[in-house]
Amino acid sequence: MRETLGGSGVAGATWALVVAAGSGERLGIDRPKAFAVLGGRPLLAESLDRLDRCPWVDAIVVAAPVGWEEPAILLSEELATTKVVSCVSGGATRADSVRAAFVEVSDEALVVLVHDAARPLVDDGVIERVLEPLSRGFDGAVPTLPVDDTLKRVEDGRVAETVPRERLVRAQTPQAFLAPVLRHALEGDVSGATDCASLVERAGLRVAVVEGDPRLLKVTTPADLALVEALARSS
Ligand code: CTP
Ligand code: MG
Repeated sequence: MRETLGGSGVAGATWALVVAAGSGERLGIDRPKAFAVLGGRPLLAESLDRLDRCPWVDAIVVAAPVGWEEPAILLSEELATTKVVSCVSGGATRADSVRAAFVEVSDEALVVLVHDAARPLVDDGVIERVLEPLSRGFDGAVPTLPVDDTLKRVEDGRVAETVPRERLVRAQTPQAFLAPVLRHALEGDVSGATDCASLVERAGLRVAVVEGDPRLLKVTTPADLALVEALARSS
């Protein structure tokens, strides 16, 4: 299913794909995670609203859970977004959902941002940081945070080794890519990919690392939802 919304109809240089098609199994509620209630409205509303107001984003495509395309469109209308141009049905995996949304991206797009709806507190600062390396010859950019805990590799229920953490980071979204780079990466084998940067890395291309944001935590469990709700209130 694919719905084209009114929107402004303007297809600019920078497109944002919001992947919201996951089932939210670990959250364990009666609806997909994108429609969990955060501050009195669906979780998806937060990132849609914030991306729509971002001056560097020209057009937005939403990948909605199958059967939830209509509520996603209604939500976009209620929010009076001006940049949401299309809402597509997501796929079986995150990468499949990105692929489905990418189909809607104009051939004229220069840059594509991919963002998890499960990270509602996206802001202009991190968007600016991931866009910047693309003008310095990078193919993509990822926001990251350091790893604070000691890391162990486990085999058969026991510790096999302690992994040095100095060169490890946690990757977040939004991730930014030159549009042709992401198009090409999505044409290949996407199995097992939990983010888009890994697809671009696999192709041997250059992905920059920029500072992430602790407020961009991903809602996975009910405790995360409560935490994000508290963070949203404190802003
Ligand atoms: N996602 C998607 N399509 C899928 C799977 C995931 O668009 N088939 C999106 C989710 O909606 C989310 C992001 O990818 O915004 C990160 O995925 P995750 O946090 O794992 O969300 P879910 O897959 O919904 O959660 P769970 O793994 O607990 O089922
Ligand atoms: Mg998942």
